[in-house]
Amino acid sequence: MTLSQLSAPPRSAVRSDLSALRDVLRNPSGFLLTLSQAAGDIAQFSAGPVRIVSINRADLAQRVLVEQADAFRKMPAVRVIGALTGNGLLINEDATWRRHRRLAAPAFQHRRIAAYADTIAALASEAVAGWRVGDVLDVGQAMKTLTLRIIGLTLFDTDFALDAAGLSDDIEIALDFINRQSGRVSLPILDRLTPGKVRGLEAIAKVDHFVRSLIRARRASPGGHTDLLDMLMGARDADGSGLSDDEVRDEAITLIVAGHETVATALTWTFHLLGQYPQAAERLRTEAQVALEDRLAAFGDLERLPWALQVFKESMRLYPAAFVIGREARQRVDLGEFRIAAGTWVMICPYTSHRDPRAWANPLGFDPDRFAPAAERAIPRGAYIPFGAGPRVCIGNQFALLEAQIILATIARQFRLTPVDDRPMGIRPMITLNPDRPVMMRVECLARSHSPRDARGV
Ligand code: HEM
Repeated sequence: MTLSQLSAPPRSAVRSDLSALRDVLRNPSGFLLTLSQAAGDIAQFSAGPVRIVSINRADLAQRVLVEQADAFRKMPAVRVIGALTGNGLLINEDATWRRHRRLAAPAFQHRRIAAYADTIAALASEAVAGWRVGDVLDVGQAMKTLTLRIIGLTLFDTDFALDAAGLSDDIEIALDFINRQSGRVSLPILDRLTPGKVRGLEAIAKVDHFVRSLIRARRASPGGHTDLLDMLMGARDADGSGLSDDEVRDEAITLIVAGHETVATALTWTFHLLGQYPQAAERLRTEAQVALEDRLAAFGDLERLPWALQVFKESMRLYPAAFVIGREARQRVDLGEFRIAAGTWVMICPYTSHRDPRAWANPLGFDPDRFAPAAERAIPRGAYIPFGAGPRVCIGNQFALLEAQIILATIARQFRLTPVDDRPMGIRPMITLNPDRPVMMRVECLARSHSPRDARGV
């Protein structure tokens, strides 16, 4: 990669060639990490007609996402996911986005999320009931099936049990296909129907069919539900207009995709890290056994499970599932000492900013104590953004934290998961940041060794 310093903005660099666009689309986190190390606070490069700026400083990320959010829209490359999700909340803008966000918001209010806790605990407990000591688990697969069932029962009042594994596979194939398409630079005339493309399009059609069937079934028998699907289908504006079935379909697929893959990936990294840091795993086990004894977790237990939450937050620092957040400048924008032209793509990379030595001591070390309450309050704004920030912040962030805390405690209370090999794990940046091979772990059983009295002071 050739980088040359720009004269005007300090600590910034420019790169201009077409391969830059391909690199950034194919391996954004690797590309941006190299770029941030080479270029500092802000790096600028152009790819044909597209001017791209990558931002590597917390206060600048905070300006783009929060303080000057109105000056930006989602980056056009983000819209590729629309092939699966349609024009759902992840990509829609302006008045449509505001309307849909307002309609979906009640499903994510604190009171509602608290009510999901029992369902999450019951499904987590059911998932581990089939685990046997000595089993070798594909942790990613197990987490995807579980988080998909959780989305199904909490937001759609439907048990996806029979469909969960197949639906999860279809979503993965569809996302993989979309990811590959976005990294391709090809002419439409060469864009033949390859077997990979056929599989990708089939997977998208199957997810579409599944969700449209849910909507049809609900229209046929609407009574007795108070879930997100009911809110979306029953919503009325002041003029009495509601969402069309296509709009409901787009939002439903968006929430299924955004709401299960991300949490599953983040949990998979968490178990991988706990396998590398047995003392943190041991502390989690003790905490879970003391807080839950032999019961299922409930909302009231969460305050007694602070380590589980800290572990999850630290895991998302090192491996943020949403590793790049993209915007496009609607107009010319002054960001502190930098000026950005209208139409510029702006890439904020939580993967790099979460590893920035200026914001984090020992940035590559796994240390959940960074998220103990006092330490967490001292983290500079914009330095820790696994859920984004500002008006487009993840609508499911509190849901995800509660879900992860319950799943971690439910598993840690009964089992220890140990790595089956010691090879270092690399990253595979897809639409989310995946491990570069399946995380396979062995199930070991735990004898209860701590009574609540033993474990005081954990
Ligand atoms: C660990 C889990 C999760 C992570 C890391 C994550 C990450 C993110 C990030 C970074 C954004 C902002 C993207 C941007 O600003 O361009 C986002 C948006 C969004 N997330 Fe999440 N998310 C997670 C879980 C969830 C869950 C559980 C749901 C729903 C059940 C969800 C639904 C959404 C939706 C609908 C948006 C778009 C919001 C809008 O623009 O109004 N996410 N997520």
